[in-house]
Amino acid sequence: MLKMNRSVKMEIGNHELPAGVLIFNPQQSSIISANDYLAEKLGYKSTALNGQALSCIMDDAEVIALPKEASHSTRIRLQDNKGRNHAFVVSAKPLQENMCLVLLEESVESQLSIELEQDRARLLAEQTQKNELISKLESVNAQFVQTEKMAAIGQLAAGVAHEINNPIGYVYSNLQTLAGYLGDLRQIIEAIDQVSEIEELKILKNTLDYEFIRNDVSDLMSESAQGIERVKHIITALKDFSRSDDEKTESSDLQQALESTLSVVWNELKYKAEVETDYGELPLVECNLGQINQVFMNLLLNAAQSIDDFGIIKVSTRSLNNRVEIRVEDSGHGIEPEHRSRIFEPFFTTKPVGEGTGLGLPLAYNIIKKHGGSIELESTPGKGTAFTVSLPVTQLKSGR
Ligand SMILES: Nc1ncnc2c1ncn2[C@@H]1O[C@H](COP(=O)(O)OP(=O)(O)OP(=O)(O)O)[C@@H](O)[C@H]1O
Ligand SMILES: [Mg+2]
Repeated sequence: MLKMNRSVKMEIGNHELPAGVLIFNPQQSSIISANDYLAEKLGYKSTALNGQALSCIMDDAEVIALPKEASHSTRIRLQDNKGRNHAFVVSAKPLQENMCLVLLEESVESQLSIELEQDRARLLAEQTQKNELISKLESVNAQFVQTEKMAAIGQLAAGVAHEINNPIGYVYSNLQTLAGYLGDLRQIIEAIDQVSEIEELKILKNTLDYEFIRNDVSDLMSESAQGIERVKHIITALKDFSRSDDEKTESSDLQQALESTLSVVWNELKYKAEVETDYGELPLVECNLGQINQVFMNLLLNAAQSIDDFGIIKVSTRSLNNRVEIRVEDSGHGIEPEHRSRIFEPFFTTKPVGEGTGLGLPLAYNIIKKHGGSIELESTPGKGTAFTVSLPVTQLKSGR
């Protein structure tokens, strides 16, 4: 026990702590040890109080009122060697069979309370400042998302224009051919009224190649219908992308979203890879479709850009409990181990200047995180990479 008292004294006595420490024995109402600060405060020499009765520094009522168990902020009055009272605020803690009191003079305590209050106010101000910064960051992030989206759309616009140009081109040329055929058919129909012999009509049909026209008309019509269908598809996909960028979520068909995104980026993929799809049965997923489309687009573009000659991009989906998984796998050059931890950093790119901004993956990461989901990565250098996006089927009300 002596050893313990010494350690208490050393710890407290050596510090310039404006606090008294008093260890007393409640059974015998005696002082085991008082630290230097307390002894001095009461006008005694360093160890003079040790072993004395408690009554030499407080009256009997105070002795009886001393805390017998752990407590905070009890008030006691002690007397110094000249009989003057000193008010203290006390915290008590049992120490084996003894009690240890830490005493703060009331004036010191109120000073500490003022300082505490000032610290609290400062912390509160700092917190407010931090909150303002966070909301500024959030708005910059929203702008960033919008800018990146615009840039991505701009980059793709040329490809989309090309995509639309091609079907429009052949639909237009088919229409011209069809107009020619119609002229020929009109000639045959008009001739029916004028020719006297059926043989003449047969010759005319042969000259105008009626058989060929008859077959070609239906080919041209179905090819044109397909072309128009394709243009319609691309326009729908573009509409998905240009949705207003608010935070609204809606129940969405992610398979349809993947198909739309594939249409939009088709021009960038078709010369780089064969695209295989393996769609599982998916429930509708509550999400901001414009943003999720953007994630798919970034992953698909990265996959295509990782392939040097011609490879395979596999897009698959599956449903797991109340989550869905979307996996984009490529047979590209993979990610070097030293780059793995950096690819989600804004502006990290291994692409030549002017080709990559390094914003695709950080943006995708932000969007998926906002949806309460995750993105996982598997990559083998030289073999390929797979990104797996996991999304909850429903959003927590406060989750976004
Ligand atoms: N499928 C992938 N295969 C190999 N490397 C990849 C793949 N996806 C991403 N990376 C690596 O991660 C880096 C960062 O990707 P991110 O999409 O953020 O930017 P970027 O594609 O370089 O540029 P941006 O998308 O802005 O045009 C890429 O430069 C590339 O090194
Ligand atoms: Mg990218």
